[in-house]
Amino acid sequence: MTDTRQKQGKSLFIRTYGCQMNVYDSERMAGLLKPLGYSLADAPDGADLVILNTCHIREKAAEKVYSELGRLKKLKADKARQGEAMKIAVAGCVAQAEGPEITARAGYVDMVVGPQAYHRLPELLARAARDDGDILETDFAVDEKFDRLAEREAEGPTAFLTIQEGCDKFCTFCVVPYTRGAEVSRNVDAIVAEARALAAQGVREITLLGQNVNAWASPPPAGEAGDAWGLGELCRHLAKIDGIERIRFTTSHPRDMDDGLIAALGEEEKLMPYLHLPVQAGSDRVLKSMNRGHTAEHYIGLIEKIRSARPDIAISGDFIVGFPGETASDFEETLALVEAVDYSSAYSFKYSRRPGTPGAAMPKQVAEPEKDERLARLQALLERQRQSFNEAQIGKTLPVLFEKTGRHEGQMVGRSPYLQSVHVSASQSMLGSIAPVKIEGITPNALAGVLVKDNEAAA
Ligand code: 5AD
Ligand code: SF4
Repeated sequence: MTDTRQKQGKSLFIRTYGCQMNVYDSERMAGLLKPLGYSLADAPDGADLVILNTCHIREKAAEKVYSELGRLKKLKADKARQGEAMKIAVAGCVAQAEGPEITARAGYVDMVVGPQAYHRLPELLARAARDDGDILETDFAVDEKFDRLAEREAEGPTAFLTIQEGCDKFCTFCVVPYTRGAEVSRNVDAIVAEARALAAQGVREITLLGQNVNAWASPPPAGEAGDAWGLGELCRHLAKIDGIERIRFTTSHPRDMDDGLIAALGEEEKLMPYLHLPVQAGSDRVLKSMNRGHTAEHYIGLIEKIRSARPDIAISGDFIVGFPGETASDFEETLALVEAVDYSSAYSFKYSRRPGTPGAAMPKQVAEPEKDERLARLQALLERQRQSFNEAQIGKTLPVLFEKTGRHEGQMVGRSPYLQSVHVSASQSMLGSIAPVKIEGITPNALAGVLVKDNEAAA
């Protein structure tokens, strides 16, 4: 046993890159280290422990880690001159994929800990305090991790809750199956316990997270008979928890969008009308070469089915331009798909060649200027769609969950059901409540509206 009291009053800085799963993991790391006396600092300067929670999805994201490490090396040396130690940990997907390379390139890094092993941070820290050797922990121990992370503190009215990790889909461009491992679903009872604990602390909206969240499956809750549950059943079950008013989930895969989930989207009011359903490309040839396992037609049909179950649903997606072999006419098919679907928001990227993935070895890599041009055209179209979706809210009254205070005096920021930020003049006492807001205008990245008084809302 280590004496935790000796460790009190230490400061911890965590920098998070990449996806929401990393945001969740960073919160959990902070939670794990709190009992050891670490409190969060808002800058790395002078911190006792700095964690970089990294992303490996595109080359740019991975390279950022090494430049940040260069800056930390100096801060660590500054601290050492004062006779104090700064420990540096690299966590997340770069740690998983490039562990030995990190310790070779940056010998001053004390710990390298993969996304399935960070629950062991307290032990690793104790080891790092004892010796100066490199500590590399990149086992896949997902079940153990979830067990160890059972308790947590809420940070506001919305919270992420990881229910599934890893991916078995092996899209040929993607590192995730290698960095996060095989698909693993958390058990329903553990998820419900975490959701209840969050609700008891004032959380009103939970976002269920997973790399392929709609591949989630688990035996029914303890004591209940029947077949394995899917995400639709889980959402309906979580909707019964008092205090939980809104449920979201991300990221979904078109192949796992089953009828049970679509029916739940249509029937369960607490499920928000927003779906992130990446398609990546609109050409069947490219989809095949990406190993997506579906055609463009299948995807568009799926969207139609979802829209007939939940007509107001906002659709979001991810796109990659310039996948190896993508021709100008393949790219036109991506634009045609975007026109057909009409997205409320989307993320789009230039293909990035990732070591170890099948795509990296494919012939006919697309030249960078070509990728730039395609990305610009795609983003212009997606941006037009986003703006017109936002404009279409003007004049509507939307239920808004108030999440935080705004930048201006007397302003609060909330979320619409469609995940748009909404700026409203309201008192801080509205924090955590859901109230009707009449949308009066839009700014580049948000909606602006006024609170509707109860009697007006009822009228
Ligand atoms: N290059 C570019 N974008 C990628 N993504 C995943 N791998 C790559 C890559 N090698 C994108 C996909 C995915 C999102 C999380 O990141 O669009 O849905
Ligand atoms: Fe990567 Fe494809 Fe798995 Fe998504 S479904 S995490 S893009 S391999």
